[in-house]
Amino acid sequence: MKKRNSYLNQVQNRVLKVYKEVSPSFRKLVSKKDFKENLEQRVNILRALGLPEQVFNGKMVLEVGGGTGENSIFYSMWGADVTIADPNNISLQRAAKLYKNNNLKVKLINKNLFDLKMSFIKKFDIVICEGVVQHTATPSAALELLLKSVKAGCIFMIALSEKNGFYKRTLQRKFIKSISKNNDEIITNSYKFFKNHLKRASKYGLRSEISIIYDTYINPQVKAISLKNICNMFFKNNFYYLSSYPSINDNFQVSPWSQKKIDPFNYNAHKNRYKMIEKLWRVSGNFNKEKIFFSGKYSLINAYLDKVDKKLTKLNDNINKKNLKNIDLSLIQDGYLGIGMNYFVAVKK
Ligand SMILES: C[S@@+](CC[C@H](N)C(=O)[O-])C[C@H]1O[C@@H](n2cnc3c(N)ncnc32)[C@H](O)[C@@H]1O
Repeated sequence: MKKRNSYLNQVQNRVLKVYKEVSPSFRKLVSKKDFKENLEQRVNILRALGLPEQVFNGKMVLEVGGGTGENSIFYSMWGADVTIADPNNISLQRAAKLYKNNNLKVKLINKNLFDLKMSFIKKFDIVICEGVVQHTATPSAALELLLKSVKAGCIFMIALSEKNGFYKRTLQRKFIKSISKNNDEIITNSYKFFKNHLKRASKYGLRSEISIIYDTYINPQVKAISLKNICNMFFKNNFYYLSSYPSINDNFQVSPWSQKKIDPFNYNAHKNRYKMIEKLWRVSGNFNKEKIFFSGKYSLINAYLDKVDKKLTKLNDNINKKNLKNIDLSLIQDGYLGIGMNYFVAVKK
Protein backbone atom coordinates (compact mmCIF):
# COMPACT_ATOMS: atom_id res chain seq x y z
CA MET A 1 0.00 0.00 0.00
CA LYS A 2 2.83 2.33 1.00
CA LYS A 3 4.62 1.54 -2.27
CA ARG A 4 1.52 2.40 -4.35
CA ASN A 5 1.03 5.66 -2.51
CA SER A 6 4.57 6.69 -3.20
CA TYR A 7 4.09 5.90 -6.92
CA LEU A 8 0.86 7.96 -6.96
CA ASN A 9 2.68 10.85 -5.33
CA GLN A 10 5.65 10.58 -7.65
CA VAL A 11 3.44 10.81 -10.76
CA GLN A 12 1.43 13.64 -9.29
CA ASN A 13 4.54 15.64 -8.38
CA ARG A 14 5.96 15.24 -11.89
CA VAL A 15 2.65 16.28 -13.49
CA LEU A 16 2.21 19.24 -11.13
CA LYS A 17 5.75 20.46 -11.80
CA VAL A 18 4.81 20.81 -15.49
CA TYR A 19 1.40 22.35 -14.68
CA LYS A 20 2.94 24.90 -12.31
CA GLU A 21 5.20 26.06 -15.13
CA VAL A 22 2.39 26.44 -17.66
CA SER A 23 -1.25 26.06 -16.60
CA PRO A 24 -3.12 23.39 -18.62
CA SER A 25 -6.55 24.94 -18.13
CA PHE A 26 -6.02 28.70 -18.19
CA ARG A 27 -8.25 30.53 -20.65
CA LYS A 28 -8.56 34.29 -20.90
CA LEU A 29 -11.84 35.32 -19.30
CA VAL A 30 -11.89 39.11 -19.05
CA SER A 31 -13.65 40.76 -21.96
CA LYS A 32 -17.25 40.24 -23.07
CA LYS A 33 -15.89 38.40 -26.11
CA ASP A 34 -13.92 35.96 -23.89
CA PHE A 35 -17.06 35.25 -21.85
CA LYS A 36 -19.17 34.76 -24.95
CA GLU A 37 -16.70 32.29 -26.49
CA ASN A 38 -16.22 30.31 -23.28
CA LEU A 39 -19.94 30.27 -22.53
CA GLU A 40 -20.68 29.00 -26.02
CA GLN A 41 -18.09 26.25 -25.63
CA ARG A 42 -19.55 25.14 -22.27
CA VAL A 43 -23.14 25.23 -23.48
CA ASN A 44 -22.23 23.30 -26.64
CA ILE A 45 -20.66 20.37 -24.82
CA LEU A 46 -23.42 20.27 -22.18
CA ARG A 47 -26.17 20.33 -24.84
CA ALA A 48 -24.37 17.61 -26.81
CA LEU A 49 -24.66 15.59 -23.60
CA GLY A 50 -28.34 16.43 -23.05
CA LEU A 51 -27.66 18.64 -20.02
CA PRO A 52 -29.46 21.99 -20.19
CA GLU A 53 -28.09 24.88 -18.11
CA GLN A 54 -31.08 24.81 -15.73
CA VAL A 55 -29.96 21.40 -14.43
CA PHE A 56 -27.36 23.30 -12.37
CA ASN A 57 -29.75 25.68 -10.60
CA GLY A 58 -29.70 25.14 -6.82
CA LYS A 59 -27.39 22.11 -7.07
CA MET A 60 -24.27 21.32 -5.08
CA VAL A 61 -21.60 20.84 -7.76
CA LEU A 62 -18.12 19.41 -7.26
CA GLU A 63 -15.53 19.82 -9.99
CA VAL A 64 -12.63 17.46 -9.41
CA GLY A 65 -9.42 18.79 -10.97
CA GLY A 66 -11.25 22.01 -11.81
CA GLY A 67 -7.97 23.91 -12.19
CA THR A 68 -8.36 27.61 -12.88
CA GLY A 69 -12.17 27.55 -12.80
CA GLU A 70 -13.11 28.59 -16.35
CA ASN A 71 -15.62 25.74 -16.69
CA SER A 72 -17.29 25.83 -13.30
CA ILE A 73 -17.76 29.60 -13.20
CA PHE A 74 -20.68 29.06 -15.58
CA TYR A 75 -22.30 26.53 -13.21
CA SER A 76 -22.18 29.24 -10.53
CA MET A 77 -23.75 31.75 -12.92
CA TRP A 78 -26.55 29.25 -13.51
CA GLY A 79 -27.26 29.03 -9.77
CA ALA A 80 -25.06 26.16 -8.55
CA ASP A 81 -23.10 26.07 -5.29
CA VAL A 82 -19.65 25.17 -6.67
CA THR A 83 -16.66 23.49 -5.03
CA ILE A 84 -13.40 22.96 -6.93
CA ALA A 85 -10.85 20.40 -5.74
CA ASP A 86 -7.39 20.57 -7.33
CA PRO A 87 -3.88 19.79 -6.08
CA ASN A 88 -2.39 22.81 -7.90
CA ASN A 89 -2.50 25.75 -5.47
CA ILE A 90 -1.42 28.19 -8.24
CA SER A 91 -4.46 27.22 -10.33
CA LEU A 92 -6.74 27.59 -7.32
CA GLN A 93 -5.42 31.09 -6.63
CA ARG A 94 -6.29 32.04 -10.19
CA ALA A 95 -9.76 30.46 -9.76
CA ALA A 96 -10.30 32.48 -6.56
CA LYS A 97 -9.46 35.69 -8.41
CA LEU A 98 -11.70 34.82 -11.36
CA TYR A 99 -14.69 34.16 -9.09
CA LYS A 100 -14.03 37.27 -6.98
CA ASN A 101 -13.79 39.50 -10.06
CA ASN A 102 -17.20 38.23 -11.10
CA ASN A 103 -18.80 38.59 -7.64
CA LEU A 104 -19.37 34.87 -7.37
CA LYS A 105 -18.71 32.48 -4.50
CA VAL A 106 -16.72 29.25 -4.77
CA LYS A 107 -15.20 26.79 -2.30
CA LEU A 108 -11.65 25.76 -3.14
CA ILE A 109 -10.07 22.57 -1.81
CA ASN A 110 -6.35 22.09 -2.41
CA LYS A 111 -6.41 18.29 -2.69
CA ASN A 112 -5.55 15.42 -4.94
CA LEU A 113 -8.63 13.36 -5.88
CA PHE A 114 -7.20 10.29 -4.14
CA ASP A 115 -7.29 12.25 -0.85
CA LEU A 116 -10.97 13.25 -1.10
CA LYS A 117 -13.10 11.45 1.50
CA MET A 118 -16.12 9.47 0.36
CA SER A 119 -18.30 11.26 2.92
CA PHE A 120 -17.24 14.58 1.33
CA ILE A 121 -17.97 13.49 -2.28
CA LYS A 122 -21.38 12.18 -1.18
CA LYS A 123 -22.55 15.71 -0.39
CA PHE A 124 -22.77 16.66 -4.07
CA ASP A 125 -25.69 16.42 -6.51
CA ILE A 126 -23.47 16.80 -9.58
CA VAL A 127 -19.84 15.65 -9.78
CA ILE A 128 -17.74 16.64 -12.79
CA CYS A 129 -14.21 15.60 -13.67
CA GLU A 130 -12.79 16.72 -17.03
CA GLY A 131 -9.34 16.02 -18.40
CA VAL A 132 -7.95 14.78 -15.09
CA VAL A 133 -7.83 10.99 -14.60
CA GLN A 134 -5.48 10.40 -17.58
CA HIS A 135 -2.87 12.47 -15.76
CA THR A 136 -2.94 10.34 -12.59
CA ALA A 137 -0.75 7.27 -11.93
CA THR A 138 -3.76 4.95 -12.16
CA PRO A 139 -6.61 6.40 -14.29
CA SER A 140 -8.85 3.36 -13.72
CA ALA A 141 -8.41 3.58 -9.95
CA ALA A 142 -9.13 7.33 -10.09
CA LEU A 143 -12.35 6.77 -12.06
CA GLU A 144 -13.39 3.87 -9.84
CA LEU A 145 -12.85 5.92 -6.69
CA LEU A 146 -15.18 8.65 -7.98
CA LEU A 147 -17.79 6.14 -9.19
CA LYS A 148 -17.78 4.41 -5.80
CA SER A 149 -17.97 7.66 -3.84
CA VAL A 150 -20.87 9.62 -5.38
CA LYS A 151 -24.32 9.37 -3.76
CA ALA A 152 -27.40 7.72 -5.27
CA GLY A 153 -29.09 10.12 -7.69
CA CYS A 154 -25.85 12.04 -8.36
CA ILE A 155 -25.27 13.10 -11.96
CA PHE A 156 -21.69 12.15 -12.78
CA MET A 157 -19.90 13.59 -15.81
CA ILE A 158 -16.43 12.52 -16.84
CA ALA A 159 -14.19 13.53 -19.74
CA LEU A 160 -11.12 11.41 -20.27
CA SER A 161 -8.71 10.05 -22.86
CA GLU A 162 -10.00 6.79 -24.33
CA LYS A 163 -7.39 4.50 -25.89
CA ASN A 164 -8.85 4.48 -29.41
CA GLY A 165 -9.99 8.09 -29.51
CA PHE A 166 -6.61 9.21 -28.21
CA TYR A 167 -4.60 6.89 -30.50
CA LYS A 168 -3.43 9.57 -32.96
CA ARG A 169 -2.35 11.88 -30.13
CA THR A 170 -0.54 8.96 -28.48
CA LEU A 171 1.37 8.48 -31.74
CA GLN A 172 2.16 12.20 -31.81
CA ARG A 173 3.52 12.00 -28.24
CA LYS A 174 5.59 8.93 -29.04
CA PHE A 175 7.02 10.55 -32.17
CA ILE A 176 7.87 13.86 -30.44
CA LYS A 177 9.49 12.08 -27.49
CA SER A 178 11.52 9.84 -29.82
CA ILE A 179 13.15 12.84 -31.52
CA SER A 180 13.48 15.29 -28.59
CA LYS A 181 16.10 15.24 -25.85
CA ASN A 182 14.58 17.86 -23.56
CA ASN A 183 11.57 20.16 -23.11
CA ASP A 184 13.01 22.88 -25.35
CA GLU A 185 13.33 20.36 -28.17
CA ILE A 186 9.80 19.10 -27.51
CA ILE A 187 8.52 22.66 -27.93
CA THR A 188 10.53 23.27 -31.12
CA ASN A 189 9.53 19.92 -32.63
CA SER A 190 5.86 20.37 -31.69
CA TYR A 191 5.76 23.63 -33.64
CA LYS A 192 7.77 22.09 -36.47
CA PHE A 193 5.67 18.95 -37.00
CA PHE A 194 2.27 19.71 -35.48
CA LYS A 195 1.78 23.39 -36.25
CA ASN A 196 -1.63 22.94 -37.90
CA HIS A 197 -2.88 20.79 -35.05
CA LEU A 198 -1.79 23.35 -32.44
CA LYS A 199 -3.46 26.16 -34.33
CA ARG A 200 -6.66 24.20 -34.65
CA ALA A 201 -6.71 22.93 -31.05
CA SER A 202 -6.07 26.45 -29.75
CA LYS A 203 -8.83 27.94 -31.89
CA TYR A 204 -11.48 25.43 -30.77
CA GLY A 205 -10.22 24.70 -27.23
CA LEU A 206 -9.54 28.41 -26.42
CA ARG A 207 -6.19 27.54 -24.80
CA SER A 208 -2.83 28.89 -25.93
CA GLU A 209 -0.60 26.73 -28.15
CA ILE A 210 2.08 26.57 -25.46
CA SER A 211 -0.47 25.39 -22.90
CA ILE A 212 -1.48 22.58 -25.30
CA ILE A 213 2.20 21.64 -25.85
CA TYR A 214 2.79 21.41 -22.09
CA ASP A 215 -0.44 19.50 -21.43
CA THR A 216 -0.10 17.03 -24.32
CA TYR A 217 3.58 16.56 -25.18
CA ILE A 218 5.66 17.67 -22.17
CA ASN A 219 3.26 16.24 -19.60
CA PRO A 220 4.94 13.06 -18.23
CA GLN A 221 1.61 11.27 -17.74
CA VAL A 222 -1.17 10.92 -20.31
CA LYS A 223 -2.59 7.44 -19.87
CA ALA A 224 -5.73 6.59 -21.81
CA ILE A 225 -8.19 3.86 -20.76
CA SER A 226 -10.22 1.59 -23.03
CA LEU A 227 -13.96 1.92 -23.67
CA LYS A 228 -14.32 -1.62 -22.33
CA ASN A 229 -12.69 -0.66 -19.05
CA ILE A 230 -14.78 2.53 -18.75
CA CYS A 231 -18.08 0.69 -19.44
CA ASN A 232 -17.22 -2.14 -17.06
CA MET A 233 -16.55 0.30 -14.24
CA PHE A 234 -19.83 2.20 -14.72
CA PHE A 235 -21.68 -1.14 -15.01
CA LYS A 236 -20.12 -2.63 -11.88
CA ASN A 237 -20.73 0.52 -9.85
CA ASN A 238 -24.44 0.63 -10.58
CA PHE A 239 -24.92 3.65 -12.84
CA TYR A 240 -27.51 4.18 -15.50
CA TYR A 241 -26.32 5.70 -18.76
CA LEU A 242 -27.53 9.17 -19.74
CA SER A 243 -25.33 10.25 -22.64
CA SER A 244 -21.89 10.31 -24.18
CA TYR A 245 -19.95 12.32 -26.71
CA PRO A 246 -19.02 10.95 -29.18
CA SER A 247 -22.13 8.88 -28.78
CA ILE A 248 -22.12 5.15 -28.08
CA ASN A 249 -25.91 5.03 -28.59
CA ASP A 250 -27.39 2.28 -30.72
CA ASN A 251 -28.75 4.08 -33.79
CA PHE A 252 -30.53 0.93 -34.96
CA GLN A 253 -32.63 0.67 -31.83
CA VAL A 254 -36.29 0.98 -32.84
CA SER A 255 -38.10 -1.41 -30.52
CA PRO A 256 -40.84 0.29 -28.41
CA TRP A 257 -39.46 2.49 -25.62
CA SER A 258 -41.31 0.41 -23.05
CA GLN A 259 -39.39 -2.71 -24.04
CA LYS A 260 -36.37 -3.50 -21.89
CA LYS A 261 -33.09 -2.33 -23.41
CA ILE A 262 -29.61 -3.67 -22.98
CA ASP A 263 -27.57 -1.36 -20.75
CA PRO A 264 -25.05 0.63 -22.87
CA PHE A 265 -22.50 0.07 -20.08
CA ASN A 266 -22.78 -3.70 -20.67
CA TYR A 267 -19.76 -3.73 -23.00
CA ASN A 268 -19.89 -7.43 -23.81
CA ALA A 269 -23.51 -7.28 -24.94
CA HIS A 270 -22.60 -4.52 -27.42
CA LYS A 271 -19.12 -5.80 -28.21
CA ASN A 272 -19.38 -6.11 -32.01
CA ARG A 273 -20.96 -2.68 -32.39
CA TYR A 274 -18.43 -1.13 -30.02
CA LYS A 275 -15.51 -2.65 -31.97
CA MET A 276 -16.75 -0.69 -35.00
CA ILE A 277 -17.12 2.51 -32.93
CA GLU A 278 -13.60 2.05 -31.53
CA LYS A 279 -12.20 1.75 -35.05
CA LEU A 280 -14.12 4.88 -36.08
CA TRP A 281 -12.67 6.83 -33.13
CA ARG A 282 -9.14 5.55 -33.83
CA VAL A 283 -9.21 6.50 -37.49
CA SER A 284 -11.26 9.70 -37.26
CA GLY A 285 -9.68 13.07 -37.89
CA ASN A 286 -10.70 14.42 -41.25
CA PHE A 287 -13.97 12.78 -42.20
CA ASN A 288 -15.38 16.11 -43.32
CA LYS A 289 -13.11 15.71 -46.33
CA GLU A 290 -14.27 12.17 -47.03
CA LYS A 291 -17.27 11.85 -49.32
CA ILE A 292 -17.47 8.21 -48.36
CA PHE A 293 -19.14 9.05 -45.04
CA PHE A 294 -22.07 10.63 -46.85
CA SER A 295 -22.51 7.64 -49.14
CA GLY A 296 -24.41 5.67 -46.49
CA LYS A 297 -22.75 2.50 -47.81
CA TYR A 298 -21.57 0.65 -44.75
CA SER A 299 -19.37 -1.85 -46.59
CA LEU A 300 -17.47 1.02 -48.26
CA ILE A 301 -17.14 2.91 -44.98
CA ASN A 302 -15.87 -0.19 -43.21
CA ALA A 303 -13.31 -0.87 -45.96
CA TYR A 304 -12.13 2.75 -45.71
CA LEU A 305 -11.77 2.52 -41.91
CA ASP A 306 -9.74 -0.70 -42.29
CA LYS A 307 -7.47 0.91 -44.85
CA VAL A 308 -6.66 3.95 -42.68
CA ASP A 309 -6.34 1.75 -39.59
CA LYS A 310 -3.65 -0.32 -41.35
CA LYS A 311 -1.75 2.86 -42.25
CA LEU A 312 -1.86 3.93 -38.60
CA THR A 313 -0.50 0.55 -37.48
CA LYS A 314 2.34 0.94 -39.95
CA LEU A 315 3.06 4.45 -38.68
CA ASN A 316 3.12 3.13 -35.12
CA ASP A 317 5.61 0.39 -36.14
CA ASN A 318 7.87 2.90 -37.87
CA ILE A 319 7.85 5.23 -34.86
CA ASN A 320 8.69 2.26 -32.59
CA LYS A 321 11.54 1.21 -34.88
CA LYS A 322 12.70 4.83 -35.20
CA ASN A 323 12.46 4.26 -38.92
CA LEU A 324 12.05 7.98 -39.41
CA LYS A 325 12.97 8.02 -43.08
CA ASN A 326 9.84 6.09 -44.01
CA ILE A 327 7.52 7.98 -41.77
CA ASP A 328 4.42 9.53 -43.29
CA LEU A 329 3.19 11.86 -40.58
CA SER A 330 0.25 13.32 -42.52
CA LEU A 331 -2.22 11.04 -40.68
CA ILE A 332 -1.31 12.66 -37.36
CA GLN A 333 -0.81 16.21 -38.61
CA ASP A 334 -4.06 17.36 -40.14
CA GLY A 335 -7.68 17.49 -39.05
CA TYR A 336 -9.02 17.00 -35.53
CA LEU A 337 -6.92 13.91 -34.81
CA GLY A 338 -9.35 11.47 -33.24
CA ILE A 339 -11.06 12.27 -29.97
CA GLY A 340 -9.16 14.50 -27.55
CA MET A 341 -11.56 13.66 -24.77
CA ASN A 342 -14.48 11.25 -24.53
CA TYR A 343 -17.41 12.40 -22.38
CA PHE A 344 -19.76 10.15 -20.40
CA VAL A 345 -22.72 11.21 -18.26
CA ALA A 346 -24.46 8.76 -15.94
CA VAL A 347 -26.57 8.68 -12.80
CA LYS A 348 -25.85 6.54 -9.74
CA LYS A 349 -28.76 4.17 -9.10
C1 LIG B 1 -5.91 19.35 -18.28
S1 LIG B 1 -6.29 20.14 -16.79
C2 LIG B 1 -8.07 20.19 -16.86
C3 LIG B 1 -8.63 21.30 -16.03
C4 LIG B 1 -10.15 21.46 -16.09
N1 LIG B 1 -10.84 20.30 -15.56
C5 LIG B 1 -10.62 21.72 -17.52
O1 LIG B 1 -11.31 20.84 -18.09
O2 LIG B 1 -10.32 22.77 -18.06
C6 LIG B 1 -5.98 18.87 -15.61
C7 LIG B 1 -6.28 19.29 -14.17
O3 LIG B 1 -6.20 18.12 -13.34
C8 LIG B 1 -5.57 18.48 -12.14
N2 LIG B 1 -5.01 17.23 -11.55
C9 LIG B 1 -3.91 16.55 -11.92
N3 LIG B 1 -3.74 15.47 -11.13
C10 LIG B 1 -4.78 15.47 -10.26
C11 LIG B 1 -5.18 14.61 -9.20
N4 LIG B 1 -4.46 13.55 -8.87
N5 LIG B 1 -6.30 14.91 -8.52
C12 LIG B 1 -7.05 16.00 -8.86
N6 LIG B 1 -6.71 16.84 -9.86
C13 LIG B 1 -5.60 16.58 -10.53
C14 LIG B 1 -4.52 19.49 -12.56
O4 LIG B 1 -4.03 20.26 -11.51
C15 LIG B 1 -5.29 20.29 -13.61
O5 LIG B 1 -5.99 21.35 -13.04
